[in-house]
Amino acid sequence: MPLTNRSTLTQFLIEERRRFPGASGDFNALILDVALACKAISRAVAFGELGGVMGNHAPEAGGSVNVQGETQKKLDVLSNDVFIRRTEWAGNLAGMASEEMDLPYQIPKQHPRGKYLLVFDPLDGSSNIDVNVSVGSIFSILRVGQDVVESGRDLVEADFLQPGTRQVAAGYALYGPTTMLVLTVGDGVNGFTLDPNLGEFMLTHASMQIPKETQEFAINASNSRFWEAPVKRYVDECLAGKTGPRAKDFNMRWIASMVAEAHRILMRGGVFLYPRDSKDVTKPGRLRLLYEANPIGMIMEQAGGRASTGREPMLAVQPTSLHQRIGLVFGSRCEVERIERYHAEPARAEENNPLFAERSLFRV
Ligand code: AHG
Ligand code: MN
Ligand code: MN
Repeated sequence: MPLTNRSTLTQFLIEERRRFPGASGDFNALILDVALACKAISRAVAFGELGGVMGNHAPEAGGSVNVQGETQKKLDVLSNDVFIRRTEWAGNLAGMASEEMDLPYQIPKQHPRGKYLLVFDPLDGSSNIDVNVSVGSIFSILRVGQDVVESGRDLVEADFLQPGTRQVAAGYALYGPTTMLVLTVGDGVNGFTLDPNLGEFMLTHASMQIPKETQEFAINASNSRFWEAPVKRYVDECLAGKTGPRAKDFNMRWIASMVAEAHRILMRGGVFLYPRDSKDVTKPGRLRLLYEANPIGMIMEQAGGRASTGREPMLAVQPTSLHQRIGLVFGSRCEVERIERYHAEPARAEENNPLFAERSLFRV
């Protein structure tokens, strides 16, 4: 294929940086290292069974379990290592945190330390790896406190507990039929497609905007008996279609790779819910605040959409722990706002609500 005049990710970042004449270039270097990590993971995923990377990680043939209590796949562990190795050496990072590591990762002493924190989900949707369905990586970049920069002390959990509004940048890579990198540096959202010949991310989707209105929702309906009333109401109204209160038919999707759902929603609108539910009272939601909800939340907001817990804007939540789980709703602004309204309304007398009556699919 001939070379086009599209920007590469490098060109895009250099041109962005010109807006900040004092910038050191550390940030751009970090993003390019993250992009290289994503390219390496993309190749590992693409080789599939041929690469010997399918199945569970099995250190002593007993498998391994991460801090979330989830069985780690070989590719979860490999992707985590790739993120670390590609980014730890350059002097841009003060430390990292990831879904696959219980504790913050300290930059080894032989490398200089920098002013950024990298928080990531190295492989999202990893239950889909073995069935050849799209997976992705998610990352969030924060600044570390000035005292860490000055003292060079090791990081503690509290250094990472910053609300999503403090993110400097966020993004994801999607390993689908094509590999894409979608990035925000706080100035809109831009999508880059990996040119497999050049090994370069090329700007293909400038200034992405989520369509405001939608007729598509995504939720794991097998949890419906555990949902709270506002979520039941929202889904019931969607299912009621043309003859229901929304007066239009809805379509439903569930990929079980949040990155893939986020990307679909960015491209054609929609709403995603993994709400807080009563399935397991020790887990207030399925997805993790720092490396899933916040970065996807920043991308949604930067693309004109919205992200919320259902009760408050996601990016305003003050985190309380590194691997904190949270209810997550994101996508087209009008739908997310509607779901927030349903949560804000006083509890409705369900016996008077026809949606929870006999014929309702999601009857309490
Ligand atoms: P991860 O593979 O990083 O643990 O995340 C998987 C997440 C998310 O991508 C997806 O939306 C959700 O888990 C799927 O959950 P269910 O299996 O409950 O549908
Ligand atoms: Mn994930
Ligand atoms: Mn993961």
